[in-house]
Amino acid sequence: MSSPIQVHLLPALIEPDALRDATAVVIDVLRATSTIVHALAQGALGVIPCAGIDEAQRLAEQQLPGTALLAGERCGLPIPGFDLGNSPNEFSAQAVQGKKIFMTTTNGTRALIAAKTARRVLVAALTNLSQVVVEARQQAGPVHLVCAGTDGRITLEDALCAGGIARWLQHFGDDMDASDDATQLAINLYETHGPDYDRTFDLLRASRGGRNLIDCGLGDDISNCARQDRFDVVPELFVEDWEIRLAK
Ligand code: MLT
Repeated sequence: MSSPIQVHLLPALIEPDALRDATAVVIDVLRATSTIVHALAQGALGVIPCAGIDEAQRLAEQQLPGTALLAGERCGLPIPGFDLGNSPNEFSAQAVQGKKIFMTTTNGTRALIAAKTARRVLVAALTNLSQVVVEARQQAGPVHLVCAGTDGRITLEDALCAGGIARWLQHFGDDMDASDDATQLAINLYETHGPDYDRTFDLLRASRGGRNLIDCGLGDDISNCARQDRFDVVPELFVEDWEIRLAK
């Protein structure tokens, strides 16, 4: 029997119970999941997605002094009093090695919460696309690709990344059924723009999330998020601990 690969262009489009027994892959290319991939690749111990600013501060205060960092954004901008914003480059090895990061972002956190009923929840960006394909292939059963979108709207960059993962899963797995319409749409987008850095970069700049970043003066983040396969790490949300760490 073939297993479906299904792209959800927004968390709100996931039908109740659809993720049970599935591997979910959460995608927020600009920028939450790109930043999480970067942070774990630079040696952060874990990332704890927090629903709001108060929750992040309360949880960070419960940690041993010097072991926790507060990170995140509101309207794209760093949160006053927090250690880090949501730009991947801020999460250098020097800043994050050995630390737990309490993170609150607008769309990425919502998408992670929407995926929490899945059997496994992986975190993907363009920067770890191929490694996510390798990891997702190790698990039998359906793969659901959950795009975070921006403020409840579909975004090109998340659809592009989902299309790339779906394309390669289908390519390597004879038993993977990618016939769903949203999945085909995403694969087509990847095939026309995905494999080439310049086309990916242009698409990210033109997307809703990209335009928001440029308006905030954070346009430099786009090139960091557009580089495919920069890292070979796969973050996984361990739902019982509510913590993102490297997949084992
Ligand atoms: C989010 O999770 O809302 C996004 O990553 C927004 C951003 O910081 O670009």
